[in-house]
Amino acid sequence: MITLGNPEELAILLREQRQQGHRIAFVPTMGNLHDGHISLVREASRLADFVVTSIYINPLQFGANEDLDKYPRTLEADQQKLQEAGNHLLFTPDSTAIYPEGLERHTKVIVPLLTEGLCGASRPGHFDGVTTVVNILFNMVQPDVALFGEKDYQQVAVIRKMVRDLRLPVEIRTGATVREVSGLAMSSRNGYLSEDQKAQAAQIYTTLTAMREQLLKAAHDLPTTIAWGIEALEEAGLRVDYLEIVNSDSLQAARDRSEPLTIAVAAFLGSTRLIDNLSLSPIRDTE
Ligand code: PAF
Repeated sequence: MITLGNPEELAILLREQRQQGHRIAFVPTMGNLHDGHISLVREASRLADFVVTSIYINPLQFGANEDLDKYPRTLEADQQKLQEAGNHLLFTPDSTAIYPEGLERHTKVIVPLLTEGLCGASRPGHFDGVTTVVNILFNMVQPDVALFGEKDYQQVAVIRKMVRDLRLPVEIRTGATVREVSGLAMSSRNGYLSEDQKAQAAQIYTTLTAMREQLLKAAHDLPTTIAWGIEALEEAGLRVDYLEIVNSDSLQAARDRSEPLTIAVAAFLGSTRLIDNLSLSPIRDTE
């Protein structure tokens, strides 16, 4: 596996791949790779001849009081995992390569509406940072297909919308959330949790699955199901940032069960913010 951080070298190498008629798959990440990322890389190598993964901790998507400085940096371990998963090229640009004139002066890509609720409401500007950097990375890599994890449900919806609106010539694929045996969704932020906290955090998935059961059985109306879920999470010692049942397409609060539904949650355990979701309708894989 080749590791490089220079966009010009990346362009030369990828041009050679394209000249050989190779299809390129891309997995953008912020590193500290876990089985969720690795399952995307494995799927990428099924879909394409040449797999590029990027590791770039994007300052533009972190708020002032968020964990940019302490975000885990584990390059050697990540390289090992990628090598084993059959990744061909690891792209590790620095901020000079991504934002040459600095964050403040850089053009931003903003997706309206879909970014207003859920994580967008709690983390103002977060998705502007995501769409801006993903756009830059797409332009640098020019992949045929790019893969993202369904754990970040809103992120996937926002990126699909950006790709559609800007006519970006890339196919977006998603990979199912990979979970610990306890049900806890794998996340780089789980590394901030003690073993006891991980057991506590597993209540997030337990609560989501119980809510899904309630919805499938039409046991209660939506607000009652949400109130039940908030209470269950609080009883488990979590501080709920949001717990919503949204329309899976618009991400607006759902009105009733006839809509495609996704239950989306963000909750704090100590200072660690965890997100998860569960859809009642299948998530579409291609546009
Ligand atoms: O999901 C992530 O790790 C990041 O938001 C992404 C897509 C790599 C953009 O920085």
